[in-house]
Amino acid sequence: MNTPQRRILVTSALPYANGQIHIGHLVEYIQTDIWVRFQRMQGHEVHYVGADDTHGTPIMLRAEKEGITPQKLIAQVWKEHKRDFDNFLISFDHYYTTDSAENKKLSQDIYIKLRNAGLIEMRAIEQAYDPIKEMFLPDRFIKGNCPKCDAKDQYGDSCEKCGATYVPTDLKNPYSVVSGATPIRKISDHYFFKLSDPRCESFLREWTQIKTPLQSEARNKMKEWVGKPGESKLGDWDISRDAPYFGFEIPDAPGKYFYVWLDAPIGYYASFLNYCEKKEINFNEWVEPNSPTEQYHFIGKDILYFHTLFWPATLHFSGYRTPTNIFAHGFLTVDGEKMSKSRGTLISADSVIQSGFNPEWFRYYFATKLNSSMEDLDLNLQDFVARVNSDLIGKYINIASRSAGFLIKRFNGEISDNAMGHPLLKEISSSKDKIALLYENREFAKAIRIIMDLTDKVNSFVDEHKPWEIAKHPEQEANLQTICSITLEAFRQLSIYLKPVLPQVALGVEKFLSIPEMQWNDIDTPLSSKNPIQSYKHLMSRVETSQIDGLLAANLSK
Ligand code: 2FM
Ligand code: ZN
Repeated sequence: MNTPQRRILVTSALPYANGQIHIGHLVEYIQTDIWVRFQRMQGHEVHYVGADDTHGTPIMLRAEKEGITPQKLIAQVWKEHKRDFDNFLISFDHYYTTDSAENKKLSQDIYIKLRNAGLIEMRAIEQAYDPIKEMFLPDRFIKGNCPKCDAKDQYGDSCEKCGATYVPTDLKNPYSVVSGATPIRKISDHYFFKLSDPRCESFLREWTQIKTPLQSEARNKMKEWVGKPGESKLGDWDISRDAPYFGFEIPDAPGKYFYVWLDAPIGYYASFLNYCEKKEINFNEWVEPNSPTEQYHFIGKDILYFHTLFWPATLHFSGYRTPTNIFAHGFLTVDGEKMSKSRGTLISADSVIQSGFNPEWFRYYFATKLNSSMEDLDLNLQDFVARVNSDLIGKYINIASRSAGFLIKRFNGEISDNAMGHPLLKEISSSKDKIALLYENREFAKAIRIIMDLTDKVNSFVDEHKPWEIAKHPEQEANLQTICSITLEAFRQLSIYLKPVLPQVALGVEKFLSIPEMQWNDIDTPLSSKNPIQSYKHLMSRVETSQIDGLLAANLSK
């Protein structure tokens, strides 16, 4: 595939700055990173940006509980998140924070443009209020007895004991989680983004149903949410919160702050803007309407609503381009069940590293599971061990060790050039476009299946020619060199196909084979006798079952 150079801005969802990165998050960052690395290997201009999502009540209250400022808390968490992303080889070009000067300015400008377009309205609403703490209470900060079964300490939306669902005002003996006080009802002015305005409705109908090639599940959901013309299903969006709130103040509205979900996606642009200024990239060229550049947001399916309704409407009506597409993935389960602290399956990214796991095992395993749909995916721990040990190590990594030894010992690491046109190598390179298309379409599981079928063929080739037997016959020296050269060249080709998933292994392969950074089109540039290979050092070790037990123990009810 020789497409002209594309210009692509990519984001993953911004993680909240009050919690650890866990394997559920990692699915998304790994998915995005594989796609981004693949695009870079194609020679496209790609900018992958992220940031911590820093505003809102939970972060404000957690900082208070820890006796530090929110700024201090988010600075600490930023370092942890960055460390985790680096460990898992997530190749952000820039990782920033939503609590930035750029984000404040962009958010306020965008708000004023929406207001000038007549799309902001102020309305008084009544809400739960903590009279001791003197703050309005988001639903999750109110608990009480279940209206149905009377179970204590239930949240305002559903009962964990009997499963009943209800609204917070139905709770019996409600209390504020913050101070213990009984919440009262209090009226205050809120600012709304008028999504019910006919302009928004018709824009969103067109954007979600015609203009954007959304995943089919996403498009159908949007159809339901937006409704038919004239149905006006969209409610206005409450974008303000009252002080005390950790966030940006709304222009001309003292004591009122932007709801975190207003400034969070704008944080994508703020991160990119900060990066553009450092790199002297023309930010406007990327964000103006009709920009020829592409913009993709990778997200979890739970935040689809924000990204396919609020975010495009916010952008469009404030004079920006809209996303090229939104890519939503499903949730991660572990051994078929929701991740849980009590089973130790809410596995933190850091514990994976601390327990001695190679992050590329996870990158590989998730790649074998990922596709372009919003279906949930399962981390089956037994299967994880099998896939890593028998496929990744047993089939792929071992190809190198099966051929390198003889080339080093007998031929000074020299490749036989006339081996390079072998049909096996042609067969591998002929899958190049098919595999590329699968990566492009986020069908990673299918791509890996094809790559693993090819590794099977390479292993059969080795088994058939038995270099260890040939090596016993000095008169067959040339043949030995040919067989090992073909095998090693096949390994190089497979390493290109796997490079988006296994960047660290790829680096080792480049060193070992004395070749420059592998690009996708290098599939057709074989190894050469002019660049003798280096001695082989093992590129990856096996996972031990005992490590899994250690990992679960490390995450038990932390
Ligand atoms: O759901 C979440 O974890 C949010 N912090 C995601 C924000 S994504 C973007 F809009 F900022
Ligand atoms: Zn109940």
